[in-house]
Amino acid sequence: MPEEKPIVDPFKPYRGRFGSYERLPETGRDRDDILDELSIMADEENARWKNGRISGTFYHAGEEHREFLNRVFSFFSHVNVLQVDLCPSMSKFESEIVSMTARMLNGDKVRKANPDDEICGTVTFGGSESIMLPMKVYRDRGLVEKKITAPEIILPLTAHPAFHKAGEYFGIRMVLAPVNEKDFRVIPAEVKKLINDNTVAVVGSAGNYPYGLIDPLDELSDIALEHDVGFHVDGCLGGFILPWIERLGYRVPVFDFRLPGLTSMSADTHKFGFGLKGNSVVLYRNLKLRRYQFFQMAHWPGGIYASPSMTGSRSGGLTASTWAAMVYLGEEGYLKATAAIMKVADRIKEGVSGIPELQIIGDPTFLISFRSNDVDIFHVNDYMISQGWRFNGLQNPPAIHFCVTMPQTLVPGVADRLVEDLEKGVEYARTMTGKNPRSGALYGMSGTVDGRSQLVQVLYGTFEHLFRV
Ligand SMILES: Cc1ncc(COP(=O)(O)O)c(C=O)c1O
Repeated sequence: MPEEKPIVDPFKPYRGRFGSYERLPETGRDRDDILDELSIMADEENARWKNGRISGTFYHAGEEHREFLNRVFSFFSHVNVLQVDLCPSMSKFESEIVSMTARMLNGDKVRKANPDDEICGTVTFGGSESIMLPMKVYRDRGLVEKKITAPEIILPLTAHPAFHKAGEYFGIRMVLAPVNEKDFRVIPAEVKKLINDNTVAVVGSAGNYPYGLIDPLDELSDIALEHDVGFHVDGCLGGFILPWIERLGYRVPVFDFRLPGLTSMSADTHKFGFGLKGNSVVLYRNLKLRRYQFFQMAHWPGGIYASPSMTGSRSGGLTASTWAAMVYLGEEGYLKATAAIMKVADRIKEGVSGIPELQIIGDPTFLISFRSNDVDIFHVNDYMISQGWRFNGLQNPPAIHFCVTMPQTLVPGVADRLVEDLEKGVEYARTMTGKNPRSGALYGMSGTVDGRSQLVQVLYGTFEHLFRV
């Protein structure tokens, strides 16, 4: 394997190359000079993923699409969505983003099931907010309607950390349910066992981040109905691609508002919605639930204040460009993109299945994770890194995943190359048995209690480092 060049500080590669600012420059800089400098950084950073070797992260790679969204952004970049009287375009865009997302996720079925229900939602700044807000909703509903003062929410071990962030921020106890060792989806019977008088909601994913898998949502829906608790499906990752995967004829379990017990769902426009970063949607089964999300302060000296979500001022540019992405692509555009993504994903699945040392986890669609009983998967990952690939490392059990997005569809032969490199990676891993892998080196340590707390200190230290000039 080629030796990696020694890197002094991978987080600060521009130190010494471009000027640094600890304070405002005394006089402003030349615009062209600034643009030149930024275009160098952008070009270099874009080259990292445009070859199709990066898992997830960059969802749409079409330059024309990005230029179109940037143009739309520029019309409203200075607009604050909160000032509704000054920019009525924003409520048009937001209500339509919510409505289009709701219809895509079978929101029209809720009224047919119960005439008192009405699908609704809000736009948020991203997946984490679209998860955290409904957690607050269930906490507040539990207090108001059931006098629950120590709320608990039950979620799969594999659910996204944003749920735990909500638990920490909003004082909710997050109770973990184990996943099945065979198919890696949450075990409904275990969820049921964990329900008590303080439970305000249960959670499932469609699909989850580690494995891209869909939990047994139909069973979770029944449990939620039986115990009269909320049921949130995290569709941040899958919400904008699973509907089209299903439409293409793949076998996909029901994951949306067709589930009678589903009370809220998150779906990220800034992932497979192919909008710009900083935008997502959260949907609720009825207006009463959404009311628990709204905030008001009627007696503030600054005026009567109300806001629908966590953020105060928000960029009109993001709202407009999300709306533009959706109406530009339409059903046809999303279907076409999904077909291209699935073609690559199917080839990767087929290729990985043909490597005896690797085992695919569960029955995935667009995101493929795998582990190994024969070699250290992080040695395989080390080899892949040396070839310019970037997989995502997983733990408990050690595994890696690759999430297929649009860049892989635009570079011919990427899937074949990935499989060929994986085969070589397995060979390389065989030669490294007994040695420590370079990637995921912390995972061995993070498997112990001591290791975990050290790792957290390292991560917090990294944040502190990132905020230094
Ligand atoms: C399944 C899932 N849920 C939630 C999130 C959080 O989304 P965001 O990073 O936009 O806050 C992610 C992000 O990758 C995800 O994969």
